[in-house]
Amino acid sequence: MRSRPVVTIDGPSGSGKSTVSKRLAEAAGMIRIDTGAMYRAVALAARSEGVSWGDPVPLGGVARGLDLSFRTVAGASRVFLSGEDVSDAIRAPEMSMGASAVSAHGPVREALVAKQREMAREGGVVLEGRDTGTVVFPDAEAKFFLDAAAAVRARRRQLEISPPGAQSFEEVLRDVLRRDVQDSTREHSPLRVADGAVYIDSTTMTVDEVVGEMLRRLPGVPRG
Ligand code: DC
Repeated sequence: MRSRPVVTIDGPSGSGKSTVSKRLAEAAGMIRIDTGAMYRAVALAARSEGVSWGDPVPLGGVARGLDLSFRTVAGASRVFLSGEDVSDAIRAPEMSMGASAVSAHGPVREALVAKQREMAREGGVVLEGRDTGTVVFPDAEAKFFLDAAAAVRARRRQLEISPPGAQSFEEVLRDVLRRDVQDSTREHSPLRVADGAVYIDSTTMTVDEVVGEMLRRLPGVPRG
């Protein structure tokens, strides 16, 4: 039994999960877990260990052995893999496709879901990803599904890509649409709205509006 709530935010690429989950976690005094960064780190580790993104069994080994930590450096949250800061490397367009590819494999998902449940065991956590409300914490105290029109998601994604300007808007939109199909049609834990989740379409909403809407629905947080 956990003493503090678990909040899940799922949704497609560029729906605003990352910005919104950071702000929500700050406002509610919770810790944020970026599960997408974990799939990205598996893709990066596999690449450096010479493991193919299409090979489920060795990829499961890479995922189980992942030495990953989230740390705050100079006020910014950074991702470390085996002691090295990989925050920028995992945001390269190639690693977006790699993460989508490795995340389709059962052994990878099992390993990362186990880590996520362990990290959030005590509650007081906001998890963001594709399956956090459907698979990782179906019993979460608050679940959200964040969505937005594809063109708006591609524009937001383009602003995050490392290095800036590495891809044109058309290229980003093509990748976003490709990942939508890949992530929502896969056999293991496809992206879908969790039972009991609140669906929020952020196409024309500001970050403040989305965070405000979520805060109003959190158990145990003062309603503004
Ligand atoms: O949110 P993101 O773009 O960083 O996620 C990268 C990829 O990882 C995404 O295409 C699908 C996968 N992913 C997943 O399958 N399950 C999650 N909980 C989070 C991400």
